[in-house]
Amino acid sequence: MNNDHVFRFHVNGQPVEMQAPPMQRLLDVLRETLRLTGTKNGCGQGICGACTVIVNGQAVSACLTPVVQLEGADVQTVEYLSDRDCLSSLQQSFLECGGTQCGSCTPGILMAATAHLRRGGGTNTEELREMLSGNLCRCTGYIKIIESMQQAAAAK
Ligand code: FES
Ligand code: FES
Repeated sequence: MNNDHVFRFHVNGQPVEMQAPPMQRLLDVLRETLRLTGTKNGCGQGICGACTVIVNGQAVSACLTPVVQLEGADVQTVEYLSDRDCLSSLQQSFLECGGTQCGSCTPGILMAATAHLRRGGGTNTEELREMLSGNLCRCTGYIKIIESMQQAAAAK
């Protein structure tokens, strides 16, 4: 029996109407259906943070978010951050400060950091380390990531 339902929400400012099983993961909707592959598939279990996107202003793990929770929601992915060819100030800071190496964690960290900075979250090193506790990076040791965020916050 077909268990699909129709869901309506916005992704990066564009309306989306789709038929899907209620428990289909937002991560698969983004990557497979909408071809927004900037959101990465890491652990698939809510541990690594690679799939972090912003839903209604909150950073969430797309691998743990079923489409049934998205009715009427506003979803933003890493593709939303840049304006055509122009990087956001946070992306630019990551580039300048070396906040990205292999890049597999970077989209999730950019989205977690964007949500944090938008809501006026603290930017001292301890506060940013705490904010990043749900985003794993195996390359940078976090120091350059934190410097990138602090540079972007200072430039505001
Ligand atoms: S893929 Fe979602 S938290 Fe790791
Ligand atoms: S830059 Fe490689 S995992 Fe973070």
